[in-house]
Amino acid sequence: MQTITDIELAGKRTLIRVDFNVPLDKAGQISDDARIRRALPTVQHAVAAGAKVVLASHLGRPEGKPVPRLSLQPVARRLAELLARPVRLAPDCVGGAVESLVDHMQNGDVVLLENLRFHAGEQQNSDAFAAALARLCDVYVNDAFAVCHRANASVVAVTRHVATCAAGLLLETELNYFEKAMTDPRRPLAAIIGGAKVSSKLAALQNMLQHVDKLFIGGAMANTFLKSSGCPVGTSKVEDDLLEAAAELMASASRRGIRLYLPVDVVAARHMDPASATRKVPAREIPADYMALDIGPATAMLYAEALADAGTIIWNGPMGVFELQPFSNGTAHVVKSLAASNALTIVGGGDTGAAVHKSGMADKVSYISTGGGAFLTLLEGRPLVAVSALLEAQQRAA
Ligand code: 3PG
Repeated sequence: MQTITDIELAGKRTLIRVDFNVPLDKAGQISDDARIRRALPTVQHAVAAGAKVVLASHLGRPEGKPVPRLSLQPVARRLAELLARPVRLAPDCVGGAVESLVDHMQNGDVVLLENLRFHAGEQQNSDAFAAALARLCDVYVNDAFAVCHRANASVVAVTRHVATCAAGLLLETELNYFEKAMTDPRRPLAAIIGGAKVSSKLAALQNMLQHVDKLFIGGAMANTFLKSSGCPVGTSKVEDDLLEAAAELMASASRRGIRLYLPVDVVAARHMDPASATRKVPAREIPADYMALDIGPATAMLYAEALADAGTIIWNGPMGVFELQPFSNGTAHVVKSLAASNALTIVGGGDTGAAVHKSGMADKVSYISTGGGAFLTLLEGRPLVAVSALLEAQQRAA
């Protein structure tokens, strides 16, 4: 794949699609600027190369119309601080006023377009909207890994309208790490899959069984597996319609000789409330009026021991309700297991990444993906539509 460093950028209007879909607090302030920071190498490269840098992103889900609280204004301010240079926010992302603003840019200038999703054409993957974006540039760069699973105009249709299309450095890094973990990985390859629902992870679990040597299950989704294997789960969240699917997954793992680990004990409470008294109980003895809200200490130890010899570990989804302190230990223990490991360790998904950052051990993990849905799509073994579009555009141009 051709990347931004393969292209002559001096004097070129360079449209870089980034994912600045950052969380905002109630006051509209950015509560985590990681996605802005992770785009900096590409932006800095383009600035240093003398490009006229036009950045485009979505923020939130404004459903195709302008929503003032989802303006990229706070992002423009934060980016200007991080780059230590002015960043001008355009009044919109397409149209005559924006074209004239871009026409007046000097080499090295940075303009951030207003939220792409203020226009319905973005999520409709509209050719007309993509053509309007393409009028702003000579070169198109996709550095928005986290949105590459979406067939949106700024990552898919746009590649049909710009002659020179390249990947940014973050997109390249994300794909390289995933490739390293899945294609000919250092074994044993272990996957830890957690989170609330089996339904949202079923495809990923099925695909991972084709690749891994060990599979660890945690989070509320483990309850469906526990119930399926005959454990009483009290009032725990369970997807009853997936009990059979869970049984099939366990059978398929055992047919393939893959060790599938389920919690052997849990932290349970009557309510999902930090004030609710907790009990650590064996997974086979969850009281009728209690719900499992985290993996227990014996499970954390079992998982740590079983992960110790891994050559590669991929982790997606927390082990419990980690945002509430009494139910955060299981997830924290998995972070510690990864930090202590000599394996290539790759973490993806918004909550999982947040848990690693919260632990203060982010630098002990090989790679934290910026992707949520995009990372999950890769775990499912499905191609990212925007990456396919980029490759096709490059093949057409070659
Ligand atoms: C994300 O946060 O995962 C991406 O920015 C995609 O956002 P979306 O789920 O609103 O399409």
